[in-house]
Amino acid sequence: MHVLTVLDHPNPASFSGAVAQHFMNGAKAAGHTVELADLHSEGFDPRWTMADVAGTPGPAIQREQDRIARADAICLVFPLYWWGMPAMMKGWVDKVWTWGWAYDQLDDPNRSLQKPRSGLLLVPAGAGADKVEAAGYRQALETAWIDGTFGYFGLAPRRLKLLCGATGSEQRRLGLLKQSYVAGETLAAPDAKPAQTDL
Ligand SMILES: Cc1cc2nc3c(=O)[nH]c(=O)nc-3n(C[C@H](O)[C@H](O)[C@H](O)COP(=O)(O)O)c2cc1C
Repeated sequence: MHVLTVLDHPNPASFSGAVAQHFMNGAKAAGHTVELADLHSEGFDPRWTMADVAGTPGPAIQREQDRIARADAICLVFPLYWWGMPAMMKGWVDKVWTWGWAYDQLDDPNRSLQKPRSGLLLVPAGAGADKVEAAGYRQALETAWIDGTFGYFGLAPRRLKLLCGATGSEQRRLGLLKQSYVAGETLAAPDAKPAQTDL
């Protein structure tokens, strides 16, 4: 498979950067080809503009769509901020997954306009897993990202992996990096496209 990893972090030495690297190393070890969209170092502009409003997003967005078009699997890597995506990643999704290309008006993941792809979110979080579960945050993020975002784009299978305790001990962080490697190594192939009989 060809695997696109999209990274949102300004610090090349960040934990999120290491997560992306370990994930890609695992994917390569499994025989996949990899491509990295490093949004900060590439200077991606996440601001929603009048061109986006008009549906004429321009070459910078076309480049991102071309990256997606050649991928069989997509992995988004970003630190959890305020129980959501940091602005750079949010802007990338808002601007790149355009109406009429990524999805249409139908509220049905099985009617994606895109070819089948698998999708993964690898998300370092400061909080511990206990808190994330007990407070219902995991379920909220699953709903927003797995159903409300990856679902609309037709990514299947789709998976959220929260890397909880990412600001913890060195041992803890090494364990999370190992999990990131394994996530790349065991990355799921895309589901077959569902029949679209009633369009
Ligand atoms: C602006 C900001 C908001 C944050 N919000 C959350 C949060 O809502 N939940 C959480 O578990 N951690 C939160 N954190 C902690 C980050 O998720 C954590 O620092 C990050 O995953 C560590 O990875 P990094 O070194 O790659 O940045 C936040 C950190 C910052 C800077």
